[in-house]
Amino acid sequence: MAFFKTVIAKLATEASSNRCNPFIAFVLGGPGSGKGTQCVKIAETFRFAHLSAGDLLREEMSSNSENGTMIHDIIKDGKIVPSEITVNLLRKAIHSSGNHKFLIDGFPRNEENRISFERIVGVEPDIVLFFDCPEEEMVKRVLNRNQGRVDDNIDTMKKRLEVFKKLNLPVIDYYSAKGKVCKINAVGTVNEVFEKVQPVLAALRI
Ligand code: ADP
Ligand code: C5P
Ligand code: MG
Repeated sequence: MAFFKTVIAKLATEASSNRCNPFIAFVLGGPGSGKGTQCVKIAETFRFAHLSAGDLLREEMSSNSENGTMIHDIIKDGKIVPSEITVNLLRKAIHSSGNHKFLIDGFPRNEENRISFERIVGVEPDIVLFFDCPEEEMVKRVLNRNQGRVDDNIDTMKKRLEVFKKLNLPVIDYYSAKGKVCKINAVGTVNEVFEKVQPVLAALRI
């Protein structure tokens, strides 16, 4: 708890000292950990723009763009879409939003995503929220999501969990080493989890 408070205090100081750049919070966690659900509540309460990398890719997939079929096949297989596509979708969304505080949900998923964002958008995140959830619970939530997603089935879910462990956890470790990660236990009701998130955002004073 003392360590947690030190991390927040450090992030709060940095957040208020350099405000020319947008404020960027990366929101990570395994598939079904509740990232999107919590982002909606954070965005409402703290007036962030919520940009979900997965939602942007699904929109691109449905828009008959030249990359649509490729994106569909990659998502269905639980793999990661080439970073250039995702980062360009995020860059456009950031620039057209009119906001200066962003929750970037489900990104970066791998090292290539991370490096590409830093290169193309040119900023590092101020904070990384990590929703930590047991696999069993994530599987249950994803299989009950009922949004007609091509990847919410047990076969793709198994692949997504492997991709999460192999490619996404190292990104979380990278930001942990930089003192940027706030790990939140994602078990509990939506409101119980939000009760744990709220003080983190409130302490940032942005
Ligand atoms: P993610 O964006 O991390 O994949 P979602 O926010 O879409 O996860 O949540 C996955 C599913 O679990 C959704 O159907 C959502 O309504 C549900 N859900 C989210 N948070 C909780 C929670 N704390 N307890 C139970 N179900 C949850
Ligand atoms: O975050 P979400 O669950 O919406 O992501 C769904 C899928 O979109 C991922 O499993 C992956 O195939 C793709 N995705 C990606 N790169 C990201 C975010 C999502 O390739 N940064
Ligand atoms: Mg989501």
